[in-house]
Amino acid sequence: MLPDHGRPAAELLAELNSLRAADLPVRGGKVTAYVYDTGLPEVHEAAHRAYAEMLEVNMLDPTAFPSMVALERQVVGAVAETLGRPGAPGIFTSGGTESIMLAVKAARDARPGATRVVLPVTAHPAFHKAAHYLGLEIVPVPVDPVTYRASVPAFGDTLDERTALAVVSAPSYPQGVVDPVGEIAALAASRGVLCHVDACVGGWLLPWLREAGAAIPPFDLAVPGVTSISCDLHKFGYAPKGASVLLFRDAELRRRAYFASAAWPGYTIVNATVQSSRSAGPLGGAWATLEALGREGYRELGRRTLEATRRLAEGVRKIPGLRVLGEPEAALVAIAGSPEVDVFVLADEARTRGWFLQPQLSYAGIPANIHITVTGVTLAGVDAMLEVIEEAAEAARRRGPAEVPEGLPELIASLDLDALDDATFAELAASAGITLGLPAGNGPAAQPGTAPGTAPEMAVVNAILDALPAATREAILLRFLSVTYSPPA
Ligand SMILES: Cc1ncc(COP(=O)(O)O)c(C=O)c1O
Repeated sequence: MLPDHGRPAAELLAELNSLRAADLPVRGGKVTAYVYDTGLPEVHEAAHRAYAEMLEVNMLDPTAFPSMVALERQVVGAVAETLGRPGAPGIFTSGGTESIMLAVKAARDARPGATRVVLPVTAHPAFHKAAHYLGLEIVPVPVDPVTYRASVPAFGDTLDERTALAVVSAPSYPQGVVDPVGEIAALAASRGVLCHVDACVGGWLLPWLREAGAAIPPFDLAVPGVTSISCDLHKFGYAPKGASVLLFRDAELRRRAYFASAAWPGYTIVNATVQSSRSAGPLGGAWATLEALGREGYRELGRRTLEATRRLAEGVRKIPGLRVLGEPEAALVAIAGSPEVDVFVLADEARTRGWFLQPQLSYAGIPANIHITVTGVTLAGVDAMLEVIEEAAEAARRRGPAEVPEGLPELIASLDLDALDDATFAELAASAGITLGLPAGNGPAAQPGTAPGTAPEMAVVNAILDALPAATREAILLRFLSVTYSPPA
């Protein structure tokens, strides 16, 4: 695989370009998940240049590279000022998952012996991951079946001296609604429990939506009882990936997130994050994005996002067979189908028309749906998006629901998946009509979604997954990853 002789940069870049031709586009608003586009190319360009400028600075040692300390102070300071507590201590991390991991570690170490993390079923799986890595236990509580907000009485029944952390979301990703932060944080405080607000997706959006006129309930560090909050700049901050800020009520709690070790004969280790050596590129990119947009820029993006979200939700409510779940307060819209319109088929139909709409499986009584993240660029194309959704819904109605082979989910659920090796598993899946992994050779022609007629048919796979219990879904997803990253046969 490694060439014997070095290759010229131009050739390498051309190869990257051709590989990327198979990817979903990161700009333009037709991919409604994973990517955040301001619609302002000059802002992204400034971020790229700053990212490259800081790329080789190693954040391992602040004394060696004081530039990154200066940048981190500015970035954390801007977030603290906007999220209710100017001067609050914070950490710049690589993303939502790392911020959450550190918030959970700080809580664990602040209350020795408490082993539970209490969260609504709509909370992000990063908390499950953190609990898994840190040896804690998740206690899920239900959400209201109409509003999808966390149930306050359920928290009331659950928080006690065994609880290391109570978690609320502002907003939750699946339906884009803000949990009752004030009530749950007050309840937590009254029981001596720390409370984390997961504002990974909303922290850098809700303040601007509020300024644009949306009724956003209090959710930040100014709310009594809130002890930490995470805010991803690589989401609605529009920074390049690898950028999140975790803020704490005080420096004592932040110290619980840190790690130091002198237990070896090498250089001293003191880390604010899970990673040790890490590039300052993401920090440079985040700083430049904040500076290039400023308050005014974010306010304008908030205004556009709010208008696009309202138009999208109104438009979807008029399409027969579809409904919006809850009352989305941020810029995340979940659209459920009906017996006549299968959302998984709808997503496939949209994909053949060049649009990626993210399928979400049913869980905890919440129906399957498609999820749209509205960003700064969406407003310019919101009518086209609505047209595609309407057309795709009509096509889905004509095609009918995805057909799950009879008895297949039951058969899969009864298998001991751990006993099968990857190859046997892939064969078994293929016999049920499911191809695991990407096609060999990444030529654009072999790739999904790049030309009409080449989009992958995912509806049956999604319908099968939807019919399985969560633990079986997880086992299958791990196999998918394992097969994807194995050498092609
Ligand atoms: C509410 C929420 N929390 C946490 C995360 C995890 O963020 P990341 O993918 O940056 O690790 C996400 C990602 O979408 C999110 O929406």
